[in-house]
Amino acid sequence: MSEAVTRSTHSASTSPGLLASLDPLLREWLPRQRWFAGKGRPVTGFSLVSVTEVLPLNSRLGLLHLLVRAHQPLVPTQSAPAHPADCYQLLLGVRETLPPHLAPALIGHPTQGPLAGLTVYEALHDPRPADVLLEALRERAHIGELRFERDMAQEIRGDLVPRLVTAEQSNSSLVYGDTFILKLLRRIVPGINPDLELPLALAREGCARVPAPAGWVLADLADDPGDPYVLGVLQPFLQGASDGWDLALRELAKGEDFSGAARALGRATAEVHTALARALPEVTMGRAQMELLVEGMTERLTAAVQTVPSLLPYAPGLRSAFDALADLASEGQTWTAQRIHGDLHLGQCLRSPSGSWSLIDFEGEPSKPLAERRLPQPTARDVAGMLRSFDYAAHSLRAGATAPSAVPGWADACRAAYCSGYAEAGGRDPRTDPVLLRAYETDKAIYEVVYEARHRPDWLPVPMAAVRRLALPEPS
Ligand SMILES: Nc1ncnc2c1ncn2[C@@H]1O[C@H](COP(=O)(O)OP(=O)(O)OP(=O)(O)O)[C@@H](O)[C@H]1O
Ligand SMILES: [Mg+2]
Repeated sequence: MSEAVTRSTHSASTSPGLLASLDPLLREWLPRQRWFAGKGRPVTGFSLVSVTEVLPLNSRLGLLHLLVRAHQPLVPTQSAPAHPADCYQLLLGVRETLPPHLAPALIGHPTQGPLAGLTVYEALHDPRPADVLLEALRERAHIGELRFERDMAQEIRGDLVPRLVTAEQSNSSLVYGDTFILKLLRRIVPGINPDLELPLALAREGCARVPAPAGWVLADLADDPGDPYVLGVLQPFLQGASDGWDLALRELAKGEDFSGAARALGRATAEVHTALARALPEVTMGRAQMELLVEGMTERLTAAVQTVPSLLPYAPGLRSAFDALADLASEGQTWTAQRIHGDLHLGQCLRSPSGSWSLIDFEGEPSKPLAERRLPQPTARDVAGMLRSFDYAAHSLRAGATAPSAVPGWADACRAAYCSGYAEAGGRDPRTDPVLLRAYETDKAIYEVVYEARHRPDWLPVPMAAVRRLALPEPS
């Protein structure tokens, strides 16, 4: 095992003027980024959480790693979770002039402070800084507060050519030679991130359904003695894989059944759940825990009815889905909870050209606090997420029409096949606990109604159709 390489940072970047130099540029640039979580609220200032001069600023190409808090006043009417000062990970390249091919990466030209007269740009577009990150992982470098770690059992070649993934996503990813993908998290929260924690645990269990982390980037912050912050994860790149959402839509467009793929996906999900149950503690949820769960679901329903009044006629039926769960708990039924994916849908599943499914993106729902995302939960929550996803895919084929309408039978076949596959691979058939499944599906559909009402009103009929079904008194 090679020794970790330690480099120190230089003082130029820690000079108090650095942030003043960048502030006007970032105010303009940051809110335009796809991954910026605070859209719609002005940025009123920044504070530095961590700054590392990865490549010296006084060289031809400087590279700054920043963790920076964006201060945004709270809007009292906003019901979304308030993040008054989210922390973002930035990698800034600094050059005298920008070569033409990097023009789209330009952030700006500081006019004051230590960067005055230089050009600052988004470094991930530039192969050289991308190489530096891979090299740091290979060397297990410590650079300032940054710690690069790796699994020495996986070979990481030094000559892999990097490219930035341009697809819309809430983080940023670099693909190295179609061999590895480095996901750099953008909104950074303190503590153990499940996007690293769960794939590492699954790799230890020998579960091949999740690409095993080959390297990871952490920050040990002098000002925060808690767990290191997780900044990025390097995983094997599944070459030629397609995501489940695209595949499902392709099959739908051809009028093809997708239930074979759905069954295989059910098996993959069960394998991941079984491995997670072995790797990390399970807990039993009794009356008190279920009451809390039901309370949360009921509160979300109440809030949703206020936001989307067309839910009102269905509210009693929807509430009955939650009450039925509370009734079982009060009769003494208990449920097992364990670590789960937390945000499972077709877009989080990749199918390799050989037909085998992998699950990715274990960060859970990024809008929820980390501690909540890491709580054990019934596996039915993941299953419900997938079942809703089949329903969405079935409707989206006709989304361009005046109103989305389902391809009859397609989603039902997928949903049944997925549950069968789940049971075949050793999971408990989710249909044997219809009350729990209905409660989770209902909770999810209510979330979707609110989301669509706010962002894509044309799509509102999709979750409303589910709401009508789920509001019926009998478990579906
Ligand atoms: N190991 C992998 N092999 C091949 N492609 C991958 C791999 N991991 C991720 N991808 C691709 O990158 C995309 C984004 O990955 P991921 O979902 O982890 O990032 P994210 O920023 O959390 O995205 P989102 O905003 O959709 O939640 C995936 O949809 C997939 O197309
Ligand atoms: Mg994600």
